[in-house]
Amino acid sequence: MAIERTLSIIKPDATRRNLTGQINARFEGKGLRIVAQKRLRLSRAQAEAFYAVHKDRPFFRSLCDFMCSGPVVVQALEGEGAVAKNREIMGATDPAKAAPGTIRKDFAESIEANSVHGSDSPENAAIEIAFFFSGLEIVG
Ligand code: CMP
Repeated sequence: MAIERTLSIIKPDATRRNLTGQINARFEGKGLRIVAQKRLRLSRAQAEAFYAVHKDRPFFRSLCDFMCSGPVVVQALEGEGAVAKNREIMGATDPAKAAPGTIRKDFAESIEANSVHGSDSPENAAIEIAFFFSGLEIVG
């Protein structure tokens, strides 16, 4: 499988509980390298732009409120099949349906406050990484 990059976000519910290091250890322990990382607070406009694909979903407003309610850590992760691998490490969107040992099973508070975001395809990964990082900020 090819070396890929994927965009990860450690969400406000996880930064609030000081889980950044534990979550990063899971990525690194499973072979993903953190090639870019920054902690920031999303503005409402940035949250709306990032999640624009969900703008007609009933949870959009609440999701954007949540995503700008506290700090997030945005990251580019690199490795073999990084997009799918990160989705395995995260587990299902709904923590009630997430497999044992996944980040969302172990840490998520709810389907909304689900601790992490990860890109769903290599194409979206490229778009999402470019949303947060310039090429100069990514060091493989
Ligand atoms: P994420 O992987 O970041 O993509 C969209 C986000 O919307 C999702 O994780 C959740 O945080 C949030 N969300 C809230 N409610 C739902 C829902 N019913 N279905 C899917 N995602 C939801």
